[in-house]
Amino acid sequence: MSTTDGGPWWKSAVIYQVYPRSFADSDGDGIGDIDGIRSRLGHLRDLGIDAIWMSPWYPSPMADAGYDVADFRDIDPVFGTLAGAEALIEEAHRVGIRMIVDIVPNHISSEHPWFKAALASPAAKERDYFWFRPGRGENGDEMPTDWRGEFGGTTWTRTPDGMWYLHLFTPEQPDLNWDHPDVRAEFESILRFWFDRGVDGIRIDSAALLFKDGDLPEVREGEPHPFHDLDEVHDVYRAWRRVSDSYDGDRALIGEVWMPEVERFAKYLRPDELHAAFNFDFLGCAWDPALMRQCVDRTLDAHRAVGAPATWVLSNHDVTRHVTRYGREDTTFSFENNLDGVPVDLELGTRRARAAALLSLSLPGATYIYQGEELGLWENENIPPSSYQDPMWARRGHSRDGCRVPLPWSGDEPPFGFSAAQPWLPQPAEWKDLTVQAQTGDPTSMLELYREAIRLRRDEPGLHRPSFGWLDVHPQVLAFCRGAHFACVVNMSGAPITLPDHETSLLASGPLDGDRLPPDTAVWLRLQ
Ligand code: GLC
Repeated sequence: MSTTDGGPWWKSAVIYQVYPRSFADSDGDGIGDIDGIRSRLGHLRDLGIDAIWMSPWYPSPMADAGYDVADFRDIDPVFGTLAGAEALIEEAHRVGIRMIVDIVPNHISSEHPWFKAALASPAAKERDYFWFRPGRGENGDEMPTDWRGEFGGTTWTRTPDGMWYLHLFTPEQPDLNWDHPDVRAEFESILRFWFDRGVDGIRIDSAALLFKDGDLPEVREGEPHPFHDLDEVHDVYRAWRRVSDSYDGDRALIGEVWMPEVERFAKYLRPDELHAAFNFDFLGCAWDPALMRQCVDRTLDAHRAVGAPATWVLSNHDVTRHVTRYGREDTTFSFENNLDGVPVDLELGTRRARAAALLSLSLPGATYIYQGEELGLWENENIPPSSYQDPMWARRGHSRDGCRVPLPWSGDEPPFGFSAAQPWLPQPAEWKDLTVQAQTGDPTSMLELYREAIRLRRDEPGLHRPSFGWLDVHPQVLAFCRGAHFACVVNMSGAPITLPDHETSLLASGPLDGDRLPPDTAVWLRLQ
């Protein structure tokens, strides 16, 4: 499992997110599982990825699709067994793919033994592992704060003994008290549990939320936020870094850090903290040359300052798929600006998504691919609300289920080889043209574009160097070189442009018109 530039793998890897419920189902219950993933590892090997990031697979009541963990040291029966997980880690390693597991430190499931013990008795030591507080008002029947939850809605639930507990997400996800040494010790032990099983990295869920201001002030403009990005969190990641550094083989810590202020974001990536963090600035950026260019500059500057690799993320299991985003008039993404139901031009979105694939795979750093992105899947906006499972739906009127629909593998109709049964979320009939089977061998398909781009990324020396420089081609064109002999050009102007001087065109996201690059098309060039 060597890397192209000789540096640690996580600096330049192509990392593929597997959402286990929706990857492949081996036992016919309509929900994906570990044996399904094992049976389809060949797809990931052929795609050429370096690592898998596995969304949570632990025992869970699934109040938030597994991000409500009841036991971090086992596997939910719906996904398989711990032995199956160990076999997958080994089989992935055998085909040169590293494994990253998802750890959720901010909260656990209300079914976790700790929370059950805390609820059972106010005297239990586990009470202090959470945020139990008396209510306000004469009878204590008003919540301790008016904090809004991360999914919208309130953040406190009252227990039968009259106390309230804090949950920044759903009531089934009580927040842990990171001021308590037992909580810290437990998570370090969980990290070791998975590192001992050979995993190569940890994705850290909601990484900036762990600490809360114990005085419980309200959220006020211009004042320090009571639960976002408190300074104490850095001590935890320093301790985690000591754990990961104590293992051989470059184990990596990758944070989910949603943070508009770049300087604060970069603090998580100081040399003794996390190795990398997801770049949501890029994910949310509009398909606009000036804004994209600023975003790339901001990203590279912030990471350079702390010596960390940039990451490039277009989609994940929480956000509207980018084929859909890029096919709308407003191409930005944010949870606050819900564009559900806004008209989409899927043909345009697909063309831009193809160009975005070449962009994100040629910028310096690591690139993340969310499962199905390599097939050009779009958001399924036609799921009947009665089938929604996402707890965000009830709180915010937006469901993330549209990007979590099971993958189409083969055949002409649902379930497209995903399962022998009806999948847990409906697949669009039009995906018959987007199955792995239908796209394999078709040089114009999204899948073959990804395969070829990842292959070239390995072979092209320019893409192994950290060097990066903008090229002046046209004000509405994003063009940059990597070293003296490689360039990527993305035409975001509405009209064809003439390509800069080059020796050969290595790969284009759509047909070129002689020496002209059509709009919403990208090309990789070898320069003279
Ligand atoms: C992260 C996950 C998301 C989950 C939330 C709460 O943002 O990506 O899916 O709902 O944390 O754990």
